[in-house]
Amino acid sequence: MSTLRDLAEEHTHLRPADIDHLHRIAGDWQLLSDLSFADLLLWVPVDAEGTFLCVAQVRPTTAPTAYQDDQVGRIVGGPEVAHLGVAYSQGRIWREGDPVWYGDVPARHEAIPVRLRTAEGEAGEVIAVVGRDTNLSTARTPSQLELNYLTTADDLAQMIADGTFPPPRHPGETTSAPRVGDGLVRLDAGGKVTYASPNAQSAYRRLGYASHLVGEDLAALHRRLAGDPLDGTEAANGILAALRGEAPPRREIDARGATMLTRALPLMPAGVPIGALVLVRDITEVRRRDRALITKDATIREIHHRVKNNLQTVAALLRLQARRVAMPEARVALEESVRRVASIALVHETLSMSSDEAVEFDGIVDRVASAATEVAATEVSVGMRRRGSFGVLPAEIATSLVMVLNELLLNAVEHGFPPADEAEETSAPTAAGMVPAVAPESDPSVRPEVVVSAHRFRKMLHVTVTDNGRGLPPGFDAEQASRLGLQIVRALVTGELRGTIELRAGATGGTEAVLVVPLARNAPDGRSQP
Ligand SMILES: Nc1ncnc2c1ncn2[C@@H]1O[C@H](COP(=O)(O)OP(=O)(O)OP(=O)(O)O)[C@@H](O)[C@H]1O
Ligand SMILES: [Mg+2]
Repeated sequence: MSTLRDLAEEHTHLRPADIDHLHRIAGDWQLLSDLSFADLLLWVPVDAEGTFLCVAQVRPTTAPTAYQDDQVGRIVGGPEVAHLGVAYSQGRIWREGDPVWYGDVPARHEAIPVRLRTAEGEAGEVIAVVGRDTNLSTARTPSQLELNYLTTADDLAQMIADGTFPPPRHPGETTSAPRVGDGLVRLDAGGKVTYASPNAQSAYRRLGYASHLVGEDLAALHRRLAGDPLDGTEAANGILAALRGEAPPRREIDARGATMLTRALPLMPAGVPIGALVLVRDITEVRRRDRALITKDATIREIHHRVKNNLQTVAALLRLQARRVAMPEARVALEESVRRVASIALVHETLSMSSDEAVEFDGIVDRVASAATEVAATEVSVGMRRRGSFGVLPAEIATSLVMVLNELLLNAVEHGFPPADEAEETSAPTAAGMVPAVAPESDPSVRPEVVVSAHRFRKMLHVTVTDNGRGLPPGFDAEQASRLGLQIVRALVTGELRGTIELRAGATGGTEAVLVVPLARNAPDGRSQP
């Protein structure tokens, strides 16, 4: 569908500043539509013969629409729409005339000229016409509320014709402005309430004001109600500014656990300040939800912190147990469990420090990798390197992936560069980065090294763990491996991670483990590697 700007640029000679003004009107005219109980159509002239094009439309939320179908893009001309021509050429609001029928709906048509004030603040020329079309099929004797709305609507219509409505926008106002139905208060030139809609009355009641608003000095009332004196003064100043003809920014008033959003608009038809319009909305629930979200976030982080602590306690208990058992095999098994638990704790620790359920994974890999070289029972010093980046990973991928990498890294160090005598005795751990004491069996000139590389390609994470060690044992079959390590790897990769893993001989000796993991929950087809 064409936008207001597209239509205006294509069919008219309006200047960019004119079109901007029409945009401002379309951004703020729901207010006028609701107060008028009428559809508003924005018409721009397309020739000198009284032909107009509709570039925007808004329906009232307070009354039935006069148009079931969309009017944007409609071109009209001739005697039927003479009222648009009158408003445009004579620059005055046109409101006489008999009801007209649109389909089977009787409607009253009015026309409001749209003026853009000059940079000097003088009334400029008419650039467009707002058609105000009321569906009369449900019309009846208006109530007190309706009369008040209509009077205010007429003031705003006059301000459109003067070029003083809509007021300038305040940057950074993100919450949607209160609407007519949320609560409306009208003030006279002295700042006294002349009318308050039932919803407005209720909103003030929640702030602790139970009496009738009519007759109250609203600025003084805001100052009294606000829990914080500074807020009270601000809210009061906003009202006073509107009474002077300025358009203050929206303000919030907090009192007795309730929050009310207010928007004050000056009323000055024909340039005469006659009072102000104050729209109010009870946003207590919105603010309560905001606060709840912030607390929820903090709670999740706290839980990760506790999970990490608990896992570290489990690791410490296992470590204690390992020191007590005499059987070397049992001790090694317990020590391995300590490392497995500790690597999961690492992910929770990282999650407890981030604000969302995702982690910067590179730091975790680097820590797991250096732990693997430190604890592995080898006599050589194995270098560790990471190539590429894992990026930010969602928590559910990170927890499984860290365990998989932990196993693959430990295997690379332990089986790629085993102790010379292959005995079960526990040699002193060697620190990473040291000059190798014993070179790998295969080639004495090669420095023992494990490389973890990662890259993302088409929503898949590709990871390889490569070592230049002595290679897989002859006739090795990963599927048949009965030990725990590769079983954990396979279970996590095909289960939680829904990816693939392959263990094979490296291109230049050694071993490489190739892992492909889909990053999106519903990964597209093509799990093959590029
Ligand atoms: N990078 C590697 N280089 C050489 N052999 C490897 C490598 N990775 C795995 N292997 C072989 O695969 C076997 C199975 O590995 P797996 O991790 O399942 O068991 P493990 O490391 O022996 O014991 P654990 O359960 O403590 O991990 C290893 O015993 C080893 O022979
Ligand atoms: Mg292993």
